[in-house]
Amino acid sequence: GWYHLYRQKSEENDMSFKDSKVVIVGCGNVGSTIAYTILNQGLCEEIVLIDRNEDKAYAEALDMTHAVYFMNRNIVIRSGTYEDCRNADLVVVTASAPMAKDAHDRLEMLAPSMNIMKSITESVMEAGFNGVFLIVSNPVDIMSYYVWKLSGLPRNQVIGSGTTLDSARLCAELSGLYDLDPKSVEAFICGEHGDSEVILWDSATIGGKAVTAVMEDNAERTKEVTKDALHDRVINLGWEVFNRKGNTCYGIAAAACAIIKSVLFNENRIYPVSVLLDGEYGQENVFLSVPVILDKTGAREIVEIDLSDEERRKLEKSGEIMKSFQDELHL
Ligand code: 2OP
Repeated sequence: GWYHLYRQKSEENDMSFKDSKVVIVGCGNVGSTIAYTILNQGLCEEIVLIDRNEDKAYAEALDMTHAVYFMNRNIVIRSGTYEDCRNADLVVVTASAPMAKDAHDRLEMLAPSMNIMKSITESVMEAGFNGVFLIVSNPVDIMSYYVWKLSGLPRNQVIGSGTTLDSARLCAELSGLYDLDPKSVEAFICGEHGDSEVILWDSATIGGKAVTAVMEDNAERTKEVTKDALHDRVINLGWEVFNRKGNTCYGIAAAACAIIKSVLFNENRIYPVSVLLDGEYGQENVFLSVPVILDKTGAREIVEIDLSDEERRKLEKSGEIMKSFQDELHL
């Protein structure tokens, strides 16, 4: 009957009805919120939680199991081991060393998090993983490069959450100025997920109209909101949250789940995620966020949009900063 045709069709085109499986390594605020967001959005068939604190992983999974009754879709969520990575479609890595209370740059987490990332990557690969890595752990661009190098996976299978969250923060700020739905703002932030990130103003639009033109049209009302003021505000929003509640989790989890959905559902959505540049945007051997088409293979294709000279220069500067920290990985 029709239902079998429907399932057959969907199984041809995406993994949403297959036994899609996501493993999340790290069950802190970010990892647990990602799991709960996957549950609410019904993004896969099975979620496995791994944490060096096995009781934590078990308790988070058991707690969420009690939420499945209220969800749109029956999803198995359980704690597990790295063996579960063998047939996983995605391994999401959120584990990292604790961020110091007085931290003011994600790059401070590089040294303490390196060994954690090395151990996780080796354990995942020992299980025979051949799916897509989604790295969330900070400093995400350096950590993504590290996982790509250590795993030996093709570049399309290692993605960092990058500036997908920052771009959503910019859209939230702009939509708030003009009473719009943030989804009606199309603006990319590229480069480092951090202080050297670059807002691509020249390609930013609201309803197809250039953001710069909208800002000029509304200058009377929002004259103090300059591009520089918006840039400073957006790159500090993570700290605005972190300094008050000790972490961020909802924004980053929603961004990670948008990426997960585009991969698992083979959506071909374009997000600014951190990927290896190999000549694109004139850079190579560095992970930076640029617009990428995401499908079931992971990073299907990098979209090279036209940059102004200033934008290209800033992106190159961001790449230089990332490369200087890549040298600390002693690869
Ligand atoms: C943030 O900006 C966690 O780095 C992430 O919220």
